[in-house]
Amino acid sequence: MLTLHRLSASYGRIQAVRDASLRVDQGELIALIGPNGAGKSTLLNTLSGLLRPADGEVRFGDRDITGWSAAKVARAGLLQVPEGRQVLGPLSVEDNLLLGRQALAGRISTHGLDEVYALFPILRERRRQKAGTLSGGQQQMLAIGRALMGGPRLLVLDEPSLGLAPIVVDQVFAVLQTLRRSGLTILLVEQNASLALAASDRAYVMEHGRIVLDGPSAELRHDPRIVEHYLPSAEGLAPAAAAL
Ligand SMILES: Nc1ncnc2c1ncn2[C@@H]1O[C@H](COP(=O)(O)OP(=O)(O)O)[C@@H](O)[C@H]1O
Ligand SMILES: [Mg+2]
Repeated sequence: MLTLHRLSASYGRIQAVRDASLRVDQGELIALIGPNGAGKSTLLNTLSGLLRPADGEVRFGDRDITGWSAAKVARAGLLQVPEGRQVLGPLSVEDNLLLGRQALAGRISTHGLDEVYALFPILRERRRQKAGTLSGGQQQMLAIGRALMGGPRLLVLDEPSLGLAPIVVDQVFAVLQTLRRSGLTILLVEQNASLALAASDRAYVMEHGRIVLDGPSAELRHDPRIVEHYLPSAEGLAPAAAAL
């Protein structure tokens, strides 16, 4: 469904992504893990049209979408939930969700307001409230809900667990599993490696702008290179990961 071929991206002279190749097949949940500053967000922003690649190719379905604008990429059904949520604070929860429909552009979404509210009941309770008054976790749910309203063929999430209390992380990841079981294709960037490897089918590891390792998540969880650097101890597994 998504193929990145030798993608590179730079900020001026800083090359943040180097020669990255990655594949997401229909129905998969793929995780991209790696330390802070590795280039994960840059990679996502490049494939979703927020940044132009310096080199390489992005294919989505049967189309070459390299260099497409973010709006055009979204209308094609590749929808990103950005790092830090970015909901529209002065607007109501429901208006934020309805804005997500702009990406539809004639396509059909399996998720309307009712379906989003079924996934996140707290958003129904708060639907008249200004989005800016929601907790961080609720804003993350809203950002995911808004993307679902746009009928994603591929849902891309940048660090959905960042800054959230463990119990809220559990709720968000439970919804991701529900979406995955319903057949949605998901690309997930996560710094929390134990959580990401527990939740995903396959994973890619990024360091210093490069993809350095990839494979089935169940294997990577036992790979010494991963265990040593990303999974400090079995006891250190996030509760959410242990429960999956
Ligand atoms: N807007 C920007 N301008 C200049 N450098 C940036 C910008 N955004 C990120 N970088 C740099 O690019 C590298 C990769 O950053 P980023 O993609 O945000 O990593 P990650 O998401 O893995 O933490 C880092 O060295 C970071 O400092
Ligand atoms: Mg990032």
